[in-house]
Amino acid sequence: MRVIHSPAEMTAWSREQQASGLKVALVPTMGYFHDGHLSLMRAAAGMADKVVVSLFVNPIQFGPGEDLESYPRYMDRDCRLAEQEGVNVVFAPHSSEMYPDGFQTTVSVGRITRHLCGRSRPGHFDGVATVVTKLFHITRANAAVFGEKDYQQLAVIRRLVVDLDMDVAVHGHPIVREADGLAMSSRNSYLDRDERQTALCLYESLALARRAAASGVLEAGELASRVREHILSRSGTEIDYVSFVDYRTLEPVDRIDANTLLALAVKINSKVRLIDNSLLLTEEGAA
Ligand code: PAJ
Repeated sequence: MRVIHSPAEMTAWSREQQASGLKVALVPTMGYFHDGHLSLMRAAAGMADKVVVSLFVNPIQFGPGEDLESYPRYMDRDCRLAEQEGVNVVFAPHSSEMYPDGFQTTVSVGRITRHLCGRSRPGHFDGVATVVTKLFHITRANAAVFGEKDYQQLAVIRRLVVDLDMDVAVHGHPIVREADGLAMSSRNSYLDRDERQTALCLYESLALARRAAASGVLEAGELASRVREHILSRSGTEIDYVSFVDYRTLEPVDRIDANTLLALAVKINSKVRLIDNSLLLTEEGAA
């Protein structure tokens, strides 16, 4: 496995592969790999000849007061894990090469970025759309894999690729969970034992809402009250949002149907913000 730091070298490598007729799949990440990341790498291997994993803690998608400084960085460990998955290249650029002096372009996706996480993290999706556009260009990816855990991010990237006519096949990958249901996240490492227990309220809420919807409770307002009550019954929880949206547009809905996604963001002890989501009336994407 190669580790490439230079964007120019990365592009040259991909060009070389593609000149011999090979397809390149990209898995963009910020590192500190868990099984969610690794399963994206496996999926990527199934859809292309070569897999590139980018490892870059992207400063421009973090807001003031967010965890840019403390975000876990374990490059050697991550490279070992990627190699075990058969990844061909880890692309780990330096910030100064991604955003050199004079950098002044932002890719900004519209309406779909304004709800959910976009509302509580202003500028976040501009940062994501900008870095992903750059990563697509640098790696010349034919395909890219994103997790449904960050559902809005996936929707934003799909929009971006269509709107800017990018020739990249975007694949969504189901949420990978711990045995007890907690969605895997690099940020779970910030949780102590009690907080880890508290964090389960996200998964429990999705399951609770799915059961209620299956039994005929289809008013979003009613389901939202039940979910909020469940989350707030745990001490140290603060709700960022409990939103019922159409999974294609992320627009809020009043009544649940097969297209409804429940998306949650909850802060645990004012320090760790966790997200999770599930479709409510279909098996696919079930919590
Ligand atoms: P990061 O949080 O490292 O996530 C990298 C990819 O792993 C994303 O596509 C994310 O949705 C996916 N992922 C994380 N946890 C997952 C889980 N439990 N199950 C399935 N997939 C999971 O998302 C980012 O980095 C950044 O915003 C990035 C796209 C790299 C742009 O900087």
